[in-house]
Amino acid sequence: MYVTVKKLPVKGLTSFLFLFFILLSSISVHAQTAEAAKNFAECRACHTIGGGRLVGPDLKGVTEKHSEKWLVSFIRNSQEMVKSGDKEAVKIFNEYSKIPMPSHPALSDAQIKDILLYIKNGGKVAGAGQAKEKSNVKKTEATETVSAVEHNLNNQREGRNNLGITALIMGILMLLSLIDLIFTHYLKAKWVHYIIVLSGLWVVGEWSYDFATSLGRQQYYQPDQPIWFSHKVHAGQNQIDCEYCHFTAETSMHAGIPPASVCMNCHSQVKQGKRTGKKEIAKIYAAIRKNKPIKWVKVDNLPDFVYFNHEQHVKVGKLDCKECHGDVAQMDQIAQVNDLSMGWCLDCHRKHKVQFVNNKFYAQYKALHDKLKAGKIKDVTVKMVGGEDCQKCHY
Ligand code: HEC
Ligand code: HEC
Ligand code: HEC
Ligand code: HEC
Ligand code: HEC
Ligand code: HEC
Repeated sequence: MYVTVKKLPVKGLTSFLFLFFILLSSISVHAQTAEAAKNFAECRACHTIGGGRLVGPDLKGVTEKHSEKWLVSFIRNSQEMVKSGDKEAVKIFNEYSKIPMPSHPALSDAQIKDILLYIKNGGKVAGAGQAKEKSNVKKTEATETVSAVEHNLNNQREGRNNLGITALIMGILMLLSLIDLIFTHYLKAKWVHYIIVLSGLWVVGEWSYDFATSLGRQQYYQPDQPIWFSHKVHAGQNQIDCEYCHFTAETSMHAGIPPASVCMNCHSQVKQGKRTGKKEIAKIYAAIRKNKPIKWVKVDNLPDFVYFNHEQHVKVGKLDCKECHGDVAQMDQIAQVNDLSMGWCLDCHRKHKVQFVNNKFYAQYKALHDKLKAGKIKDVTVKMVGGEDCQKCHY
């Protein structure tokens, strides 16, 4: 009697714990695989799973071909293995015309093993039906944002043109009205003249203000490029990281435009596009053959007397490219979405908080640290650390 009484709750507890762990592990398996699918998105630019060779090998069955340990270090940094003379690594590197696979230092061992599991499962996430549904939703969302982004640009450009046309019409009406008022006297009701002249002045004033403030600026500028290069295809559909191409954004003043050799990492294999066939990609080969750089037209331009630094904003300020360049991954043809005026820079500097505490970059601001500790201020904005000083932005 004594025994059964004592046993029962224990049994209950173990089965509860058992169920709990099953639940927990099923949650974490789900979370992991979804993450693996996300991490694999970058690999997808160069690899398929069972869809044939792309830039790199088809990864179907690769988990049987090499040991897990080998795969983890190869995916982390294949070039290191090639250089150290690992036979399998050198063989596959040579087989793929010495295209170096980019290293993935940010992926942990667990994340790579997770990707390998994902590859082993043929690129399916646990609960595939659900995942598929999800990806469909994502697709329609993406197409909607595309049109939203492009629609918005068109609207704004149109708005500016319309204002110009309205100003022209009002100008003519004003002139006619003045002529009638002074010389011809067709219209007896003089108040009509006044209304026309006053509203005309207002529209023309508005237009000249808009024109003057945008002088030398080029918001919504969207020039044609020498190659039909689409960010939507590369950064959107193929999810290639911005910094794979703009690789100096975190380390220098300029984000930089990639040289044709970077395009060749992939296009030595990808010879044809879905929308432009061979025509546009062939221009990359021509540039390489003639050893002439591609003449991209610069979209975002600041005047020479302004100092702007990408590293400071991307690495130190941890800003997303999107905050200044808009949703580039949804643009076939890139456009400048902000006006890049002084007001625009200052507006963000006044509002945006910096990561102030535990940042040796800001150790020197003793007074601010004291105020923060005393609770006199809640946050530190860019402005407080000199983001409004003229000489920070002007040489
Ligand atoms: C820019 C293109 C590119 C990207 C992105 C890329 N790879 Fe590769 N991968 C290659 C190339 C090319 C090779 C052939 C080996 C070489 O040239 O070093 C390769 C080889 C491999 C191999 C060895 C295949 C075999 O048959 O032995 C594995 C595994 C692999 N990649 C996994 C990945 C994973 C996982 C990712 C994403 C985290 C990834 N790759 C991202 C281009 C790429
Ligand atoms: C705080 C705003 C801001 C952020 C964040 C930002 N940019 Fe820029 N970017 C600019 C401005 C302003 C220019 C124009 C610079 C000039 O004309 O000197 C520019 C220019 C560029 C150019 C043209 C080439 C060059 O280096 O001048 C590229 C490419 C670019 N940005 C890519 C990126 C990428 C990729 C990211 C994210 C990693 C990014 N930018 C983040 C504001 C920003
Ligand atoms: C990491 C791999 C990668 C890099 C780097 C890369 N591309 Fe691509 N590119 C692709 C893939 C994948 C496609 C899609 C092919 C398709 O349509 O199926 C593509 C498609 C294209 C297309 C055809 C688009 C279409 O739909 O017709 C052009 C043009 C192009 N790329 C130009 C470039 C240029 C220029 C560069 C260098 C600035 C470059 N690519 C760099 C992977 C890459
Ligand atoms: C495959 C390479 C590649 C990738 C990935 C890529 N870009 Fe670009 N980017 C280019 C090339 C080439 C140009 C010049 C042609 C053009 O303007 O379309 C460019 C131009 C730009 C410009 C305009 C620069 C100027 O002239 O002022 C911006 C801004 C930019 N990229 C931001 C981004 C952002 C943000 C991402 C990630 C979402 C990204 N890029 C991903 C290759 C790439
Ligand atoms: C979307 C927000 C945003 C925009 C737009 C922006 N900045 Fe900044 N800027 C920051 C942040 C955040 C920092 C602080 C980075 C850090 O932690 O040091 C910063 C820092 C700076 C600094 C260094 C200030 C210092 O105290 O050392 C300069 C210079 C600067 N920005 C110039 C510009 C210029 C020029 C423009 C306009 C062309 C611009 N920024 C637009 C967010 C922005
Ligand atoms: C965060 C960066 C930033 C700071 C701080 C800044 N400016 Fe500017 N300034 C700019 C930018 C960007 C432009 C270019 C605007 C354009 O092209 O319309 C500009 C343009 C100007 C111009 C040219 C007039 C014009 O509109 O083209 C003058 C004059 C000027 N700034 C003076 C100052 C003075 C004085 C200060 C200090 C009180 C100052 N700026 C602080 C970014 C800054």
